[in-house]
Amino acid sequence: MAPGRVNLIGEYTDFNDGFVLPMTVDRGVYIGIRPRSDDRVSVVSLKFGETVAYSLGTFEQPKPGHWSCYVLGVVEELRLLGLIPSGFEAVIDGNLNLGAGLSSSAAVETATALALQTIFKFTMPRADIAALCQRVEHRYAGVMCGIMDQFASGLGRADHALMLDCRSLSYVDIPVTLGDHRIVIISSEVKRELAASAYNERRAQCEEGVALFKQYDPSVRALRDVTLDQVNAHASELSDIVRRRCRHVVSENMRVLNASAALGAGDLEEFGALMNASHQSLRDDFEVSCDELDCLVDIAQRTDGVLGSRMTGAGFGGCTVTLIHSDAIDSLKAQLFAYTDRFSLNPGIFVLQDNLEAGPLVSS
Ligand code: GLA
Repeated sequence: MAPGRVNLIGEYTDFNDGFVLPMTVDRGVYIGIRPRSDDRVSVVSLKFGETVAYSLGTFEQPKPGHWSCYVLGVVEELRLLGLIPSGFEAVIDGNLNLGAGLSSSAAVETATALALQTIFKFTMPRADIAALCQRVEHRYAGVMCGIMDQFASGLGRADHALMLDCRSLSYVDIPVTLGDHRIVIISSEVKRELAASAYNERRAQCEEGVALFKQYDPSVRALRDVTLDQVNAHASELSDIVRRRCRHVVSENMRVLNASAALGAGDLEEFGALMNASHQSLRDDFEVSCDELDCLVDIAQRTDGVLGSRMTGAGFGGCTVTLIHSDAIDSLKAQLFAYTDRFSLNPGIFVLQDNLEAGPLVSS
């Protein structure tokens, strides 16, 4: 089993060697699995009502984005490491909304790796599993993602958010003590179809920024090493787009550090204010929001009892995350009619309860 994640703050900072603060959710991907004595691999997705089957060694890359690329990509990467001694059969199911922005693909990858680890009894630290799963996104799904989602799914702990330094991969589990407040996730019900190309384009724009800053300071390896003063000082040498992309990443890194301190200190007001600022920066500078997400965030931010609200994940659809007083949840739900009126979409809303930790369902 591996859970999905909601990112509390720190968007598009991971592949810039920066900081992120995700936490797992109480939904995930479940796999039933058993080894075979021959080299046949057979995987059933209950959600899609489909089976994929082949013999180890005759692997053919599935269409990028097809559910099976996340499963078979993991199998293939592990096989290349010599860790898959025989075929197996597996059944996959889950209760994460696929494509909704809660990292269902990372959960599928992580659950697959943990299931195979259980039946084939190999040793691999969770951080290495996360890196392998990230490689699967790059090689089999064509998304040049950072490591946040795979790391959160595999290493996130119940009742904690995970503050990850994406350069060193050192992390701190920060207890999430919300008192009368809750984390609410609202799904825009907008599918993120163009997200892969837009995502890779954002990554390239960040790299363009790094190339300039490097000319002045060769020690700059990523936007992590750049300050807002530097962005401002070189503003005229950057295109308007690249300047705004850099400003988002550099300011978002600072917000994650401040938000982690605020969460640790129980300062939820400050945490919420940073969430709001993050959304603004993602909307205006990084341009990965969309009208639907902006509308959901706007409704939430105008509801009494909401401390902060922002889009979460890659954007272009998917979900928002909101920090709200529990007494105000009904009133927020009632306000969502304005969203349905405007977009003819019924937003899914769920209140995060006890979040899950990844692990085998049963040990073999
Ligand atoms: C997706 C990617 C992550 C991260 C976020 C944006 O979820 O998989 O690596 O870059 O987008 O923060």
